Amino acid sequence: MVSFILCLLPALLATSAQASTLTCKTCAGSADACRAAQGTCRVDKATGGCYSVAEDITLEGIKTMGFASRCTNNYNMGVKDPVTLTLGNGTYLRINTTWCNTDNNCNSAVPEVPKGSTTKNGLQCPTCWSLSTDTCDSHIAPCTGDETYCIDFAGTIRRGSEKSTFAAKGCATASTKVIKGGMGLFSALSTFMFTKATSKPAEKTPPSGASPALGRFSFALYLPGLTGLLLVKLLA
Ligand SMILES: *[C@@H]1O[C@H](CO)[C@@H](O)[C@H](O)[C@H]1NC(C)=O
Ligand SMILES: *[C@@H]1O[C@H](CO)[C@@H](O)[C@H](O)[C@H]1NC(C)=O
Repeated sequence: MVSFILCLLPALLATSAQASTLTCKTCAGSADACRAAQGTCRVDKATGGCYSVAEDITLEGIKTMGFASRCTNNYNMGVKDPVTLTLGNGTYLRINTTWCNTDNNCNSAVPEVPKGSTTKNGLQCPTCWSLSTDTCDSHIAPCTGDETYCIDFAGTIRRGSEKSTFAAKGCATASTKVIKGGMGLFSALSTFMFTKATSKPAEKTPPSGASPALGRFSFALYLPGLTGLLLVKLLA
């Protein structure tokens, strides 16, 4: 009898430990690295969880594909759905994050990198991207695919040991409407901390032929463009 209880004890202890902690897969780097044998991390199931991220981020003309799986101590903080943001001039963020806190190793599947779309959806937003500033000069651009919101945000971006402030505007998925100042977006390779962020439904593109100045966007948004034209005129 005593030996039976002694045998049972480790099993009971193990069960109670499993109820409060969750094991997640960990990996970083390429999709192949994340599909292959991976490490694990443990997190308190009450507040934490597992996530995996696959991203295509093209900034300053440099495209980086990143993959990672990790534990998080703040399961209820962060953007749960895939987000894509198109900031003009070939600059975009496409981040697919999958979250779970149900079963051990529930984040072992590698998410797909969002593809992005070139199909115009009849909406438009001011777009711009600028490093080392907290404002950027925007120009109106058509939105594509399921990017039906306009986002205006600024903050800091950290990638490895490099850190910079940035300002950006662009077309974005509706999933970005939960992004607020003070929040962070943890991608595979970068951490974005937002000092401000507003995301609201995009305006319809005016019918072609209509004067842009008659649109609902303020005239000031067109000033950088007009200044450019004047400069070209003066220089010509
Ligand atoms: C567009 O991106 C290229 C490559 O990063 C950069 O050299 C250029 O200055 C950008 N143009 C504008 C208008 O932002
Ligand atoms: C994100 O990854 C999941 C899992 O692979 C996939 O089903 C989904 O379509 C992906 N979402 C986007 C926007 O790529």
